[in-house]
Amino acid sequence: MIVCPGEDLAPWIRSLKGLDPALAIRVWPDVADVTEIEFALVWNHPPGELRRYPNLKCIASLGAGVDRILGDSELPRGVPVTKVVDAALMRAMTEYVALAVLNHYRDMDRYRRDQERQQWAPRFPRPREAMAIGIMGLGQLGADSAAKLRDMGFAVGGWSRTPKQIDGVESFHGSEQLTRFLSRTDVLICLLPLTPQTRGILNRGTFQGLRRGSYVINVARGGHLVEEDLVEALDTGQLSGACLDVFREEPLPARHPFWVHPRILVTPHVSSLTDPDAVAPQILENYRRVMAGDPPLYQVDVERGY
Ligand code: NAP
Ligand code: GLV
Repeated sequence: MIVCPGEDLAPWIRSLKGLDPALAIRVWPDVADVTEIEFALVWNHPPGELRRYPNLKCIASLGAGVDRILGDSELPRGVPVTKVVDAALMRAMTEYVALAVLNHYRDMDRYRRDQERQQWAPRFPRPREAMAIGIMGLGQLGADSAAKLRDMGFAVGGWSRTPKQIDGVESFHGSEQLTRFLSRTDVLICLLPLTPQTRGILNRGTFQGLRRGSYVINVARGGHLVEEDLVEALDTGQLSGACLDVFREEPLPARHPFWVHPRILVTPHVSSLTDPDAVAPQILENYRRVMAGDPPLYQVDVERGY
């Protein structure tokens, strides 16, 4: 069964049927017999819905994030939940993050403003090793962004729950090392999962812990950011700008101040989109595994929240 209200599911059905034409797929809410559903592909499902299926053996997220699934207080207990792990998803995220970093590093907003005034004003960028990047979350996505930005010559540090060893990337972990991580950071990138521990982590205290004039890139979830604190930090000059791909409410409501803020770049949750053709094989593999009684790949830890 696929439960993704509002999404265009035709590409998913085409990709899955292309791999296994005999696959029986029901598209929610068009499910006559709840007992025949054994595997659910899910994105933004209505809370409480998944407990209606007594034979459910796996809940598969159609993205890397599982916060909406785990946030369902009526989620059936004991059913494994999986996430997407995919090279194309990772590459797209790293591409977006690198673009946002380089856009800031090479002062592109300022040149755009210069162009509007027809002003020819060349400036040297500062040495790239002097612009320290700090990545919150060094999982599938954060670790790849860290390695690629390091290869571009930036000083990269990362913060995670447990210590990491990534060549040439300074590792910080746990709440006790957060202050030290922030104090060496000029560009803060959020690639954390949204959990009770990380909700609201991009807040006034975090911004104050950064070097003055820092830049923030949020590509994780809107729930990580305290929006009012971001605006305040931009107003006081503690932050010089922000690039935001995710928002507390999506689509970003009309007349939201972010739409018109001169130092916020808004994109509509596109930093890394799941490609059905790339991901259908792992979904099918997991379907076959759970039907054979084997554990699925890429299972998340429901208690930990990611
Ligand atoms: P992941 O592999 O699960 O990695 C999560 C990382 O966050 C890990 O390094 C983990 O530390 C760290 N972490 C978790 N809780 C923490 C805490 N309380 N304190 C410090 N570090 C903590 O996740 P991923 O696949 O890289 O994806 C990250 C997030 O990106 C997703 O959850 C999703 O929300 C977002 N995303 C957004 C888009 C988009 O289009 N905007 C696309 C894909 C994903 P440990 O390794 O030590 O456990
Ligand atoms: C997208 O937001 C994802 O979690 O894959």
